[in-house]
Amino acid sequence: TGMFTYDPGFTSTASCESQITYIDGDKGVLLYRGYPIEQLAEHGDFLETCYLLLEGELPTAAQKADFDYRITRHTMVHEQMARFFQGFRRDAHPMAVMVASIGAMSAFYHDSTDISDPHQRMIASMRMIAKVPTLAAMAYKYTIGQPFVYPLNSLDYTSNFLRMCFAVPAEEYKVNPVLSRALDRIFILHADHEQNASTSTVRLAGSSGANPFACIAAGTACLWGPAHGGANEAALKMLEEIGSVDNIPKYIAKAKDKNDPFRLMGFGHRVYKNYDPRAKIMQKTTHEVLNELGIKDDPLLDVAVELERIALSDEYFIEKKLYPNIDFYSGITLKAMGFPTSMFTVLFAVARTVGWIAQWKEMIEDPSQKIGRPRQLYTGSAQRDYPPIGRR
Ligand code: CMC
Repeated sequence: TGMFTYDPGFTSTASCESQITYIDGDKGVLLYRGYPIEQLAEHGDFLETCYLLLEGELPTAAQKADFDYRITRHTMVHEQMARFFQGFRRDAHPMAVMVASIGAMSAFYHDSTDISDPHQRMIASMRMIAKVPTLAAMAYKYTIGQPFVYPLNSLDYTSNFLRMCFAVPAEEYKVNPVLSRALDRIFILHADHEQNASTSTVRLAGSSGANPFACIAAGTACLWGPAHGGANEAALKMLEEIGSVDNIPKYIAKAKDKNDPFRLMGFGHRVYKNYDPRAKIMQKTTHEVLNELGIKDDPLLDVAVELERIALSDEYFIEKKLYPNIDFYSGITLKAMGFPTSMFTVLFAVARTVGWIAQWKEMIEDPSQKIGRPRQLYTGSAQRDYPPIGRR
């Protein structure tokens, strides 16, 4: 009709102004509040990244200590929440449990659903950053039929999370600092990625004035899809299916075949037309984790390294600018740490929670934001008269 711009998939429409995350897809650059992801992943920790995304600046030592302490004080969930879990089938997918339990937080923390009060907005943000990992570990324990492990607040954020996932009663559990550091780095890499599908979902939900727990539950639901947060699971399954280095040429040929729907999972990106900077850090982290665990020859890693080498020297992939993305190596790493594939997207949700909240908060505090209301190009039938049922 010419009245609206038709842009399915929003490939060329900016929906907001934002000061949080910058991506230059042609150069392979990712900045949080101006800081390169490489530097944050190398020198920072996840809670510091949370502070940066929320507040806009890196914390001073005193601010960091205060923030870490406050997050730690909010890690417990109400005991009634544990009983709420009992209503799920014992083999429920942990993402189903996450969507429901994050949404249920709005029924537990009424005080911080008042979005007009900046103090309550801050408390709600703290509660989610602190409690989503607790819910994630509970979702995991529930699916394997083990008792919940309560948070131990003398541990740092990520070590506490590992303990809640892997400790079993009556057995001593010592957190491996190399694995904790590696997972913390994976959380940093996933913390925000500007207006991706789940973040846009959070903003759209929040634009109506919905409470922040409900908005983050909506984002979690969107993340669940295989084209988004579910891709790391798909990449690992593909590497398992390829199985050995000898089979790689066959799969490369399949990926290039126009008549075959198969794609190399963990390859290509809507925005990055260069190496995904997160993939490089992830690859290094994979090696560190496998080394630490004494896994000398992981056949999946051999397949991944060789697949990457062949693809990056193949004309098809060069011409289409298809490079490994963050999901190419993350599955191997998480699997080696002991997480089942059903937890991969949950871990993504734990990390992305802060990005969602930072974006939600930025939107609420932006006076130019209105309720999100996309228009459409109507292609249905023209006006017509209602026929009686016997004449249809
Ligand atoms: N293997 C083989 N060919 C590919 C691949 C691939 N992984 N990705 C894109 N292509 C081809 C595609 O066939 C198309 O070819 P042509 O122009 O001849 O039709 C061209 O490259 C452009 O692809 P597109 O689908 O139009 O690009 P898009 O921006 O819509 O899709 C993508 C981006 C990530 C969905 C896609 O690259 C893909 O499906 N990759 C595999 C799944 C994956 O790894 N997803 C994780 C994304 S990163 C994590 C996250 O952000 O959640």
